[in-house]
Amino acid sequence: MSQQHQAEHLFHGSFAEEYQLLHRICPPAAEMSRRVADFVAHWQSPEPSGPLTLLELGCGTGITTSALLGSRSDIRVFSVDNAPAMLSQARAHLAESISEGRLELRQIDALGALQSLESNSIDIVASAYTLHNFLFGYRHQVLAEIRRVLKPGGVFVNGDRYALDDPAAHLAATQEELRGYFRVFLGEMKRPDLLEQWVVHLFGDESEEHIMRLTPVLEEMALLGFGEVTVHYRDGVNTLVSGVNPWR
Ligand SMILES: C[S@@+](CC[C@H](N)C(=O)[O-])C[C@H]1O[C@@H](n2cnc3c(N)ncnc32)[C@H](O)[C@@H]1O
Repeated sequence: MSQQHQAEHLFHGSFAEEYQLLHRICPPAAEMSRRVADFVAHWQSPEPSGPLTLLELGCGTGITTSALLGSRSDIRVFSVDNAPAMLSQARAHLAESISEGRLELRQIDALGALQSLESNSIDIVASAYTLHNFLFGYRHQVLAEIRRVLKPGGVFVNGDRYALDDPAAHLAATQEELRGYFRVFLGEMKRPDLLEQWVVHLFGDESEEHIMRLTPVLEEMALLGFGEVTVHYRDGVNTLVSGVNPWR
C-alpha cells in the first residue's frame, strides 16, 4: 500500500447538506463533541501566557466548534475543513463568533493547514470524527504535523471512531451499526437516498486503507513522540484520546 496518500473529498451533496441529522443516526457522535469540549475546558497550559490558540481539524458544520467556543473564554479557535458544503453551514451557525474575532474558518485540507503553521505555535489541536476518514498514509503525516505545531506541553485531543482491535468484535459492531442505519433511514425517516450514502461512506471508513484501529494508532502516536497518550473514554468505536507534545 502506498504511503503517499492525499486528502480526499468525501463530504458533498445531500450527505453534507443533511449532516445535521447526525444526532439521530449516531447519537454517540453528537455526544462526543461535548466530551472534546469538556476536555478542553479542564485542560491547563503548563505555561499560561494570554489566550490559548486552538486548531480544529475537520470542523464540518460546526457542531464541535460551537462546543469548543463555549468551553472557555480564553481561547481563539482556528477551524479548517476541506468541504465547502460543510463549511458554509459552519459559517452560518457560527457567524457571531466569527464577527467577534473568536473564530476563524478556512477551507483547506488538514495537512495543508498544519504545514502552513510554524513549529511550536499551537496550544491545543482538537478534532472530532475527522481523522478516521483519512487514508492511513495521510493520517500518519497529519499526526506528525500535529506534534510539530504543538507548543511543548501542548495537547492533541481527538474524539473519533477508533475501530476495535479484535476484528471479529469490530465486524459484529459494524453489522449492528448497519442495522441501525436501515432502521433509522427506512423506518423513521423514509430516506433510502441517504441510506445509500451513509452505507457507502461506512464502507470507506471500514476499508483497509482507512480503518483506524485503536492500539496501532496509539502506538503510532507514541512512535511519533507524543507523550501521555491516554484513552479517556471508549464506548464501542467512539473514543476520546489525547496526547501531549512533551517538554524537551
Ligand atoms: C464526520 S465530519 C465531523 C465534523 C465535525 N468535526 C463534527 O464534530 O461534527 C468530518 C469532517 O472532516 C472533514 N474532512 C475530511 N477529510 C478532511 C481533510 N483531509 N481535511 C480537512 N477536512 C477534512 C469533512 O469535510 C467533514 O466535514
